Amino acid sequence: MNTSKEIEQRLLILKKLSSEAVNLDTHYTLATGELTKRVYLDSTASTLQLKVVHEVLEKYQPYYSNTHSESHFGAKLSTGEYQWAHQMVLDFVQADPEIYTAFFAGSGATSGLNRVASTLAERNPKRDVVITTVMEHHSNDLPHRKQFQEVIHIPAAMSTNSVGCVNLHRLEEALEEYSERVNYVAITGVSNVTGIINPIHEVAELAHRHGALVVIDAAQMAAHLPIRMSGNESPEQDLDVVVFSGHKIYAPGSPGVVITRKELFAEVEPQEIGGGVVDDVAINRYIITDKFPDREEAGTPNILGAIGLAAALYALQTVGMDLIAQEECRLINYALDKLKTVDNLVIYGETDCTKCQRTGAVSFNLKTLDHALVASVLNDYFNIAVRNHCFCAHPYVREMITQTLLEEADHLTEDELEKLAEMHRGMVRASFGIYSTEEHVDALTEALKHISANTSFYREHYQLLPCGNFRHKSFDFDHTQIFSIKGAVDQILNS
Ligand SMILES: Cc1ncc(COP(=O)(O)O)c(C=O)c1O
Repeated sequence: MNTSKEIEQRLLILKKLSSEAVNLDTHYTLATGELTKRVYLDSTASTLQLKVVHEVLEKYQPYYSNTHSESHFGAKLSTGEYQWAHQMVLDFVQADPEIYTAFFAGSGATSGLNRVASTLAERNPKRDVVITTVMEHHSNDLPHRKQFQEVIHIPAAMSTNSVGCVNLHRLEEALEEYSERVNYVAITGVSNVTGIINPIHEVAELAHRHGALVVIDAAQMAAHLPIRMSGNESPEQDLDVVVFSGHKIYAPGSPGVVITRKELFAEVEPQEIGGGVVDDVAINRYIITDKFPDREEAGTPNILGAIGLAAALYALQTVGMDLIAQEECRLINYALDKLKTVDNLVIYGETDCTKCQRTGAVSFNLKTLDHALVASVLNDYFNIAVRNHCFCAHPYVREMITQTLLEEADHLTEDELEKLAEMHRGMVRASFGIYSTEEHVDALTEALKHISANTSFYREHYQLLPCGNFRHKSFDFDHTQIFSIKGAVDQILNS
């Protein structure tokens, strides 16, 4: 039970963490010649680094050495802390260490999801179907397509005319139809396009009732919502595999993370082998270790990345992901309300939070301008960093755009509709982290209002490039003027 004093204390720590993100204060010179502080609304792509992560890594630097050895002081320390990083991950996702293991893979969730798909396909080849959803990032779709005979995409549920979370009824139908053939259901915890939250424990229950496993892509969930892998109300609601990325949870440079029931990875030879995963090697044979996580981490690991990640997870856990989720939910509802006041703005997905909850991201289009032009103007004139296009979720983005175009069809001529379709080949996405504030949302809203009221001015100042991006006709950003690796090294060596 949390007392109000405890909550106050946790809120104070959250305030410290969020106000001290390392690169929140970065300044850029705009098309107007003004030097201003940026507004970072691209956390879904990568979150900024927490100061605590930066400082912990600095404290660790004097002792840096390779892991998996007890032969000298540095090796002992690095091995111990690298092991602790795995325990921290298990703790963060509330996974019973007797049943689950955590291992690091590559540089993001993509590596983890590829490893999961190939391992589970090999483990149970008779189950040659994966069920996923139309909401997925390509990284939680293409690895399954590569490894399995068939991948079924469940649509999102519709409430009124808006796209919501996964359609559970259609999921159940697919589980019944493909029955014994379903290996697992792979679903995102939170959409990287709309921020819509999926009911992952209900999905797990359905999958388990039909004899299938459940794999959660938590790339957009881990930084925004609590995750409970085991110890849920009913064991059927427990999660079999969860995957996320360190760079999306305030620790850039961190590895991808897989947390899985050990039994799922124990029966097949690891997909990657080499040093570190064997008990013994002779010229004509080798013996893979039974030990987790060692057997899934061939080669020298990303030690600094793992330490940075564990620091971030521990700091977030000290605040409590329940509190972070609550604060971010408030901010996203504020953002939805504010954005609804911009003329000619279409927000994609269900915006009524009583029908469908969101976190982290909101995607939209101005009806009167190309998505790529809006993103460029937000950057060049307002120093607001957003992302545009299809966010590696082409089917989902296209489906939502088509739906809004159909809604417009009744009151537009064929020519007008075609022009609109041409401008809306993608969307603009604003996304948030713990350091995002109402002031950032206000800045975005005011900028969009200004752009919406001055479309001719911005159209005249930009040129459409063959790749679909827009370039300012007279303003150029040469990044090497402010940073280049060579320039930075030269400066350090000559100082
Ligand atoms: C929902 C989702 N899944 C998977 C990924 C892939 O993550 P990474 O680029 O870290 O491999 C992303 C990246 O944006 C994502 O948003």
